[in-house]
This record gives sequence, structure tokens and C-alpha cells, in this order.
Amino acid sequence: MGSNGVAIDDTEAQTLAEETDVISTLHESILGLILSFVPIIDAVSTSVLSRRWIEVWTSLSTLKFDDSLLFYGKKMQKEQFVNFVEKVLLHFTNSSIEIFSLCLTSHQYDASQVSEWISFILERRVQKLHIQYSDKLFLSSNSLFRCNSLIELTLQMRCTLSLPVSVRLTNLQKLNISGIKFASDSSTYSRDITLSFPHLKVFEARGCEWSTMQNISLQVPSLERFSIAIWNHHSNESCKYGTIKVYSQRLTDFSYEGDLEQDIILCDSSSIRNASVVIVIDEDKKDRIEKLGFQAYNLIRQMDEVKRLKLLFYKVLRHAKYIFTNLPIFGSLVYLQLNEVNGEALLQLLHNSPILNTLVLLNGVADLQKDVLASAMVPHCFLSSFKVFQFKGFNANEHDLCLVKFMLANAETLEKITISPAFWLRYSDIDIGKVKEQILSLPKCSSFCVVEFSDIASS
Ligand SMILES: *[C@@H]1O[C@H](CO)[C@@H](O)[C@H](O)[C@H]1NC(C)=O
Ligand SMILES: *[C@@H]1O[C@H](CO)[C@@H](O)[C@H](O)[C@H]1NC(C)=O
Ligand SMILES: *[C@@H]1O[C@H](CO)[C@@H](O)[C@H](O)[C@H]1NC(C)=O
Ligand SMILES: *[C@@H]1O[C@H](CO)[C@@H](O)[C@H](O)[C@H]1NC(C)=O
Ligand SMILES: *[C@@H]1O[C@H](CO)[C@@H](O)[C@H](O)[C@H]1NC(C)=O
Repeated sequence: MGSNGVAIDDTEAQTLAEETDVISTLHESILGLILSFVPIIDAVSTSVLSRRWIEVWTSLSTLKFDDSLLFYGKKMQKEQFVNFVEKVLLHFTNSSIEIFSLCLTSHQYDASQVSEWISFILERRVQKLHIQYSDKLFLSSNSLFRCNSLIELTLQMRCTLSLPVSVRLTNLQKLNISGIKFASDSSTYSRDITLSFPHLKVFEARGCEWSTMQNISLQVPSLERFSIAIWNHHSNESCKYGTIKVYSQRLTDFSYEGDLEQDIILCDSSSIRNASVVIVIDEDKKDRIEKLGFQAYNLIRQMDEVKRLKLLFYKVLRHAKYIFTNLPIFGSLVYLQLNEVNGEALLQLLHNSPILNTLVLLNGVADLQKDVLASAMVPHCFLSSFKVFQFKGFNANEHDLCLVKFMLANAETLEKITISPAFWLRYSDIDIGKVKEQILSLPKCSSFCVVEFSDIASS
């Protein structure tokens, strides 16, 4: 292996040789197994030691290349690394590679070269493929979508893939992609696209661009976890987004993050237990607000069987307050996390969550009128199940105090309130000590309720 420019000095070789002697009596398949757990650079360097080792490492079925790993204390030069990868791959011309991982973070490469490596791997009956690269790559949609051996596919890179009308990967169990732009090839432009993954359990897509004007159906009957983060930067009136429909009856975890430009339709949401919906909108798009409120409502409405729900809206509620006015009853909800919520919405959610145990509130409460609370009915959960209230980003203003007072006065089963003052209070004139005193002296309906304050610094 001297020819690939990997230098090794005498003392290192000797140490390695001694270590090797200890295990050189092991059977080759076991050595191969051991080697598959160490980075490929170390695995190949063992071949300096004996001919037998050369045979051992070429029987590996796991190849992990990472250009940031140190080799004898130093990162490899780009040329050295490229050379090294090519040499290793050459040995696998006739064999399959079960697991292939390529992590390129230290250099910029020739895109066509890296693409060639990937194409090569896709023809080696690869089962787990993991590629991370911060720059652009080409990837042949054809060879990717024909690689039916894939069980796990992780792609973190900028790349455009054209989607044929239908894609089917029967063995795929986990798909984790980010940075991919999906385009439709011109022949399929006006048709819907079906992605069929009968054994897929986990789907995660962050920052991908889905083709516009087209609807995508995910036929994923075994899917348990669906997570998508979509930001459509270039949207304008004339650019309509298609929908993404998810066909699964086993979904337990759902996570959405984005601006709701593109509709996500769940064909069966009844098994979802954990849901997280994070919506951030661009305030310039005032014309969209009304539609957005409706879309947000439609999405949340589907989560009526969840146990844990996180709803983080940024700049949405201020404009679309009616999102919460017609919500279903969340009959199984025990944990609820909210931010920037207004008083009315909060009350509505509490009323609709009869067995709620924990409420986590971020960044205070807006528009909470004293008289609204005074005349409000006490939510059912306050009398039977509600035990923990975590108030993070407490602003010490009238609304926030009003809420704490309402809880203390009405929640019979409350065990603990934790208040974390907002960071900005550190720079204000507000005397937090006094506020604490004030809160501690409020009448409590639950005799065993503890009120705790955390430091401003830690909030
Ligand atoms: C692959 O197989 C061909 C034909 O059997 C043979 O000539 C070649 O040496 C093999 N390559 C490797 C790397 O084993
Ligand atoms: C997907 O990949 C990202 C980046 O490697 C990782 O942080 C995330 O946990 C992965 N998601 C899943 C579901 O494995
Ligand atoms: C996508 O679906 C919507 C309704 O869900 C429909 O109005 C629209 O025509 C569909 N788009 C295409 C390209 O089929
Ligand atoms: C809106 O999107 C269309 C289609 O992508 C594009 O042709 C047009 O220039 C965009 N208009 C504006 C104002 O950005
Ligand atoms: C739901 O989320 C919680 C906390 O993040 C986690 O502990 C739990 O395993 C999740 N439930 C499922 C079904 O994945």
C-alpha cells in the first residue's frame, strides 16, 4: 500500500505489528468483522503488516470514508484522500458492499468524481448508504431509484433528482434526506408522482425542495415516523405548490416545520401519539395569512389522538387568531407545549384537553384579559389531571401574572409550577425578587403545589 502515499514510520509499524500478533490467530471472518467497526483508513493501514491482512480487509462489507479523520495525526490531503478512496473501491469491483458511508467535509471535490463513486456503490448491492457533502453533487436518479437493495438511505447534500412518475424501493426502511431538490422530468410534468416504500418505517426530510405543481403520494403502509421541514423561499402567487399525501396507518410520530406553503395531507392520523408542528411565516405575506390560519387548523385538527403535542407558532397567531376556535377534543393529550399563545387560545386548548398533565409555555402569554379569566370556566383537567406547569420566558407582565394567578387559584391537582424568567429581564428595572414574593403569596387551591423559580441565566 506504499504506493498510495500513506507513510508509516518504523516505530508505529512495530507497535502495530505487536498488537496484530495478539489477534493474528483469529479467523479471517472475525478479523473482517472487527475491521468493519474501525474507520477504513485504519483497516487499510493494517495491510502494511501482512499479505493475509490485505485479503482480510478486502473481504469487508462495510466501508466508511471520512475526510476529516486524522491519519497518523494529520488530515489527508485532498489528492491523497481521492487516491485512497479510488484504490480501495477498485478492490471491490466484483464484490458487494453492505454499508457505505462517505462523509466529505474537509475539501471541495470534483462533483463528477464523487458521483462516479456513488454510482459504483449503487451497483454493489448496497444496503445502507450514507452520504454527507456540503457542496453540489450529481446523482443519477435512475441508478438511485433502481437500487432495490437499499434498506437505509441518508443523503445530506445539495443535489437535484428528477422524479419519475413512480418510484418503488421494496426494502427501504429508513429514508433521511436533506438539501435535495426534486424536479420532475418533462415527460411526467403534469402527472402525480407516487413514491412507494412498502417497508419504510422512518422518513425524515429537511430543507428539500419538492417539485411544484405536482402532487406527491407517499405509499408507506409501515411508516411510523414522519418528519418534514420545508421552507419554500421562492413562492409567489403564480407558483402553486402541490400537496404531499402520506398513506400510512401506523404513523406514531409526526413532525412538521415550515411555512405551510405546501399542504401535507395525512390519510390516517389516528395512530399518531407524538406530534410537533412548528410554523414560521414571513410577515410580508399578509395576503396568505387567512389561508394559513385555515391550513394550520386543518393540520392540528388531525392530531386529535395525540398524547404529546408541541405547537410552536412564530408570528402566526398575531394574525390568525381563530386557529384554535373550533378545535376537536384532545382526549388523550397529556403533554402540551406552546409558545406565543394568546389567552383565549390557551383557554380553548385547556378546555379541550380533559386529561392534560403537563403544560409547557414558552415566551409568555399575549392578550390575556383579567375579565376573560374571571368569567372563564375552570378547565376540566384542572380538577382531575393537571399537575405540572412550566412557564419559560416569563415576562413578569400583567398577562403572565394573571395566568399564574388563575392556575394557582383553580388547578386543584397542581403539584408544581416552574417559572423561568425571560432573558431580557436581566437588563430591566423589574425587581424579580418582588415578583417572586407576589407570586408566592397568591392564594393556592392545591395545598401541595410547589412554586419554583429558576435563575434568569439558565432560562
Ligand atoms: C474481478 O473479476 C474479473 C473477472 O473474473 C477479474 O479479472 C478481476 O481481477 C477481478 N477484480 C478484482 C478486484 O478482484
Ligand atoms: C437524519 O440525519 C441527520 C443528520 O445526519 C440527523 O441529525 C438525524 O438525527 C437523522 N434522522 C434520523 C431519523 O435518523
Ligand atoms: C393535486 O391535488 C389537488 C387536490 O388535492 C388537485 O386540485 C390538483 O389538481 C392536483 N394536481 C395535479 C397536478 O394533479
Ligand atoms: C413567480 O414564480 C414564477 C414561476 O416560478 C416566475 O416565473 C415569476 O417570475 C415569479 N414572480 C415573481 C414576482 O417573483
Ligand atoms: C414521543 O416523544 C417522547 C419525548 O420526545 C419520546 O420519549 C417517546 O419515545 C416518543 N414516542 C414515540 C411513540 O416515539
